[in-house]
Amino acid sequence: MINKKFWKNKRVLITGHTGFKGGWLSVWMNILGAKISGYSINPITKKNFFDITKIKQIFHKDYRSNIQDYKDLEACIKETKPEIIFHLAAQPQVLVSYDNPLDTVATNVIGTSNLLEISRNYKFIKSIVIITTDKVYQNDERKVKFTEKDHLGGDDIYSASKACSDIISNSYFKSFFQSSKCGIATARAGNCVGGGDWTKYRILTDAVEAFAKDKDLKIRNPKTVRPWQHVLEPLYGYIILAQKIYTNKNKRYCTSWNFGPSRKINISVLSFAKILKSKMNSKSKLLVSKKTDKKEKKNLDLDSKKAIKDLGWKSFLSINDTLKLTAEWYLANIKKKNMYNFSVEQINQFLKIKNDL
Ligand SMILES: NC(=O)c1ccc[n+]([C@@H]2O[C@H](COP(=O)([O-])OP(=O)(O)OC[C@H]3O[C@@H](n4cnc5c(N)ncnc54)[C@H](O)[C@@H]3O)[C@@H](O)[C@H]2O)c1
Repeated sequence: MINKKFWKNKRVLITGHTGFKGGWLSVWMNILGAKISGYSINPITKKNFFDITKIKQIFHKDYRSNIQDYKDLEACIKETKPEIIFHLAAQPQVLVSYDNPLDTVATNVIGTSNLLEISRNYKFIKSIVIITTDKVYQNDERKVKFTEKDHLGGDDIYSASKACSDIISNSYFKSFFQSSKCGIATARAGNCVGGGDWTKYRILTDAVEAFAKDKDLKIRNPKTVRPWQHVLEPLYGYIILAQKIYTNKNKRYCTSWNFGPSRKINISVLSFAKILKSKMNSKSKLLVSKKTDKKEKKNLDLDSKKAIKDLGWKSFLSINDTLKLTAEWYLANIKKKNMYNFSVEQINQFLKIKNDL
């Protein structure tokens, strides 16, 4: 369970706060009364969660700089003195990594290393959660569920860069943090959906834009099965994990954690589009387009038993509820509602279903 007293006035740094997941996490931290700062470059897309929810005002400090810039990152950490860091800043896309391989590596690998190297020197930091991905596993498409003990790898640059980020976090922890008061863990989640994501090449972005205007939707890789999950599900896991690392001095939580959806929610891209279309009451037609020649893995599944047993975390939203929450957010935005308040309501709704309010 989230301990509300624990989070009150905690100094928290979120890298990637201008992004989709970092934005939702910032709103959640604000509800909990944490003193939040952010470090990121500007939002990548024109429409984005950060601007639409107008969350700039909830940050104690809002740093805009590159995670590759060691000096700027250190200045931010020195000034904001975080006790807890959630590291989400990343180039998060497989397809973009084919076009910008070096920048992907620099951001995801060097960026993570910068953060860890700086964190070695500041005793006020007690808990660091490095957000990687389900794509860190060497995926031979054998349709098995990956456990935290499986081999890491990556046939595309994004996956490899996140696997490196995961490995280097573990190395930093074992080399420099074992006897310090700070703990580090890595968190691996699946394909997140939820309101406020306009990232290029993601099915959600294309679908929402098409369905809102009843336009045809072209679907690439319709049979690809993904572990979809509502963004609030893994974020709940990251929050519990950061709390446990902070409060347990014995480092038992300083390891890797899968936060995947239950198997029932693993559906194809085509089924995903059909359900979302119905939730948005759209008249759009679904057209299956030719497959992209740039490779993305077709099957990916996580085993989250460890997080269920040791953290008391569990993915519980059905695909129906996941896409209902998602559709309602975009529909509310079209109706020009106050999207900060609407996002807070959705977090409370989520906690109510989860019985943790
Ligand atoms: N969205 C998903 O389905 C998903 C799934 C698994 C893992 N992840 C991971 O979660 C994290 C957040 O992903 P997201 O979906 O919110 O992506 P996003 O693109 O919405 O957000 C990325 C954030 O990182 C920042 N950023 C990018 N490059 C940077 C740089 N060089 N320096 C500083 N900041 C930089 C962006 O400004 C943004 O704030 C990433 O680490 C991603 O790999 C996402």
